[in-house]
Amino acid sequence: MKIFLDTANLEEIRQGVSLGVVDGVTTNPSLVAKERKPFREHVLEICRIFEEQKIAAAVSAEVVSTDSEGMVREGRELAKWHKFIVVKCPTTAEGVRACSVLSREGIKVNMTLVFTPSQALLVAKAGAHFVSPFIGRLDDISEDGLAMVRQIVEIYRNYNFKTEVLAASLRGPLHVVESARMGAHIGTMPYKVFEQLFKHPLTDRGLEVFLKDWEKARESLGDILAPAKTGSR
Ligand code: G3P
Repeated sequence: MKIFLDTANLEEIRQGVSLGVVDGVTTNPSLVAKERKPFREHVLEICRIFEEQKIAAAVSAEVVSTDSEGMVREGRELAKWHKFIVVKCPTTAEGVRACSVLSREGIKVNMTLVFTPSQALLVAKAGAHFVSPFIGRLDDISEDGLAMVRQIVEIYRNYNFKTEVLAASLRGPLHVVESARMGAHIGTMPYKVFEQLFKHPLTDRGLEVFLKDWEKARESLGDILAPAKTGSR
């Protein structure tokens, strides 16, 4: 499963990318607005962070027009900015039309704000590169976000659609793990959720004990980084 960070914050992206397990970033107008930086330069800076680490990333940048002509114009422009950019369009009828046009031109499109398997079926037919079902926001209204992901994965497998399932609106590690178990290709998550993936109290406690035991026997153990004595192997 690929891991994307659902943020436009450069510091969070740098931190995540430095660990070598992050494959991309999803931005949206709300996340970008929080950063208060010129959009183009900001998105290009995100792309550069991956480039410096030689990671061929996917960086979603969203259109803000609501008509298909406007979305296509903006999408063509966004796609010119950098090879990592994936154009994000909302899953309205206009968005699906724009997706069909952009995809036929070879531009990668991430169809966002997906809340039903029927929407996911349509965007796959329109040639979307990614489909973004929003799990947390469905849970928020007492529906089952993960069940939607399961159905989308099932439909895509039935028809061998190439569109990758990008599980979004992930609110905690269980959303990530369950999406992975269902076969979602990607999970995009806020930095806070990404950090939670690492955490276990037994890991911290276990390490504390290992280090205490090592310290107690330190004199006889020597230093790992000390140069080897001549004649020893
Ligand atoms: O890209 C944003 C999407 O993942 C939504 O997340 O937590 O605002 O529902 P959230």
